[in-house]
Amino acid sequence: MFTPNIRPRRLRRTPTLREMVRETVVQPGDFIYPLFIKPGRNERLPIRSLPGIAQLSIDEAIKEAKEARSLGVPSLILFGIPKIKDATGSESYADDGIIQQAIRALKDVVPEMIIIADVCFCEYTDHGHCGIMLGHTLDNDATLELLQKQVLAQAKAGVDMVAPSGMIDGMVGAIREALDGNGFQHIPILSYAVKYASSFYGPFREAAESAPKFGDRRSHQMDPANVREALRESRLDVEEGADMLMVKPALAFLDVIRAVKERFDLPLAAYNVSGEYAMVKAAAQNGWIDEQRVALEILTSIKRAGADVILTYHALEAARWLNV
Ligand code: PBG
Repeated sequence: MFTPNIRPRRLRRTPTLREMVRETVVQPGDFIYPLFIKPGRNERLPIRSLPGIAQLSIDEAIKEAKEARSLGVPSLILFGIPKIKDATGSESYADDGIIQQAIRALKDVVPEMIIIADVCFCEYTDHGHCGIMLGHTLDNDATLELLQKQVLAQAKAGVDMVAPSGMIDGMVGAIREALDGNGFQHIPILSYAVKYASSFYGPFREAAESAPKFGDRRSHQMDPANVREALRESRLDVEEGADMLMVKPALAFLDVIRAVKERFDLPLAAYNVSGEYAMVKAAAQNGWIDEQRVALEILTSIKRAGADVILTYHALEAARWLNV
C-alpha cells in the first residue's frame, strides 16, 4: 500500500485549523450596497427580478442605510429614478434632483457612511442611453460636459465619492477637471473602468427603469471577449486621475479582476451585478441551492480573484450571515 508522507489534508482536519490557514476573508466592511431611490414618501416598491431589493423613497432609504450601518456595511451607492425623464437627463444635474436630495438626507442622518453616487444618464434620459444622442449615436464629447454638471450637483449636495459608469471616453479626466476646478479636490473617483456590454444587467434595468428604448450599449461598453482591452481601459483611467477602479460584472469576469489587480495598484472594486444576484435568488427559491453558502462562496471568489471591495445586492444578508 502506498502511503503519502505529504498530506495537505492535515490542515483541513478541524474548523479551527481551516480558519487558521484561510487565505481570503470576506467581511461586511468589504461591501458597497446599491440603493434605488425614487420620489415620494413611505414607499418601498419591490423589484420583481431582484427579490429583497426595492425602489425606495428617501425616508425608506434612510432606514435601509441605518440597517446597513448597524450591520457593519460602510458604504452605499445610489441610483436615481427621476420624476421626469428628458433628452438630456436634466434631473441628474438639477440641485433638487432625486439623487441630490437623497445625498443631503443620507449625509444628514448617517454622516459617517460613505455615500457614492453612480454617475450616468441612462436612468434620467427618455431614450435610456448613457448620454446625449446625436440621432442614433451617443455624442461622446457633448456627454462629457453634462457629466461635469452631474458630478458638480452631486458634490454640492455632499457626496463622498463619484462613480462614473457610462464608459464614455475621457469621463474620468473630465470629471476630475470639474471637481478640482470647483473646490472639490478631495472627492475621489471610483471609475467603472472595465464595464462589459453584459446580459447580466437585465434586472437592474427593470430596477432603474433604464433599458434603452432603441439599440443597445455595445458601442461604448466592452466586448465580453476582451481582456487586454480591460488593461488599456484601466491604464487610461489611471492616467486621467481615477482613485479606484472597477470591473463589472464580476462572476463571468474573475480572470479580468485578477488581471487588473496584478497590473494596477489602485484599490479595486468588482460589481456583483443584478443578474448574478437574481440567478442565486431564483435557484434558492426553487430549493435547488443553499443560498447562504452559494452567495458567500461567490463573494469569497470575487475577493480571492482580487477585488478589495464588492458592490452587491447581497450586502445586508451576507453581513447578517457573517455577523453570527
Ligand atoms: C448604468 C449602470 C448599469 C448598472 C450599473 N450602472 C446598467 C447598464 O449599464 O445598463 C448595472 C448594475 C447591475 O446590473 O446590477 N448607470
